[in-house]
Amino acid sequence: MKKVLILYYSQSGQLQNVLDNIIAPMQQDSNISCDYKAIKPKNPFPYPWNFYEFFDVFPESVYLNGCEIEDLDTEEEYDLIILGYTVWFLSPSLPVTGFLQSAQAKKLLKDKPVITVIACRDMWLTAQEKMKSLLSDINARLIDNVVLSDQGKSIHSFVTTPRWMLTGKKDAFWLFPKAGVAKDEIEGASRFGKRLCTALAEDRETKNDPLLGNLNAVNVVGKLIATERIAHRSFLIWSKLIKKAGQPGSNGRKIVITIYSFFLLALVLTIVPINIIIRKLLYPFRKKQITKAINYYEGPSGK
Ligand SMILES: Cc1cc2nc3c(=O)[nH]c(=O)nc-3n(C[C@H](O)[C@H](O)[C@H](O)COP(=O)(O)O)c2cc1C
Repeated sequence: MKKVLILYYSQSGQLQNVLDNIIAPMQQDSNISCDYKAIKPKNPFPYPWNFYEFFDVFPESVYLNGCEIEDLDTEEEYDLIILGYTVWFLSPSLPVTGFLQSAQAKKLLKDKPVITVIACRDMWLTAQEKMKSLLSDINARLIDNVVLSDQGKSIHSFVTTPRWMLTGKKDAFWLFPKAGVAKDEIEGASRFGKRLCTALAEDRETKNDPLLGNLNAVNVVGKLIATERIAHRSFLIWSKLIKKAGQPGSNGRKIVITIYSFFLLALVLTIVPINIIIRKLLYPFRKKQITKAINYYEGPSGK
């Protein structure tokens, strides 16, 4: 009997829905037992968020200052761990960071093969780099990564995802599609569970090779690589300023957050379109470099 632990933190239930589909084939396999657990912060985060609450978690997310979480009621040894996480400001969400920094995670994940599953807007590359370092800090072995991104183009989800987070509304409106990951993509995630049933039957989780190759587990959008790098550099600076302005929830923070939101709006309306044009012009000269970066970020599972 193989024992699989599935851990996640999901606010609207979207990521949980993705995981439900992944583990469904394993739950029907009599040779696999699945332990499915939510990561719970000691002080729950709001959903939907109000504007200041949303940006208040920005500095701590970026600097990986994980929040305190409830102990999970498990002490068992597992053969495989599936860790579902969402991305907050190009970083793993605070409850997941908090869990990975806990003494319990150190015990549970040490030397264990881990598959990360991400459901987010479409900017996850930096978060996964941070995830790699959090996992390596506790000697966990990352063997696969699955990513599902919100439907529509980046420009659409730039509007639909924050609208969903700040109001709870997911419906399509004007020229914008529904917020979140498309239904057929979520349902299609069961292919990963089917593959895991075979892989576990063959003891392949004991090796260091990926189990989910050739299943289109990740799709790296080349043009977002530079965007994330630039955004993260600015996130580091602004996070420091917001932290210096005061404790979470303080008026000092609210003032800097207000200034930051105007800065962000100005950036999106000016620098971002200029940057898109420049990158389009430079693409033929940087093709080799971009392809190399795509191959790197597609690992370990690949297309
Ligand atoms: C505070 C916050 C920051 C977010 N930042 C990002 C981000 O940087 N990149 C991204 O692709 N998605 C981002 N998202 C979207 C989430 O990754 C995720 O898609 C959304 O929270 C829904 O997940 P859930 O309802 O399953 O928790 C953010 C969401 C929140 C609440």
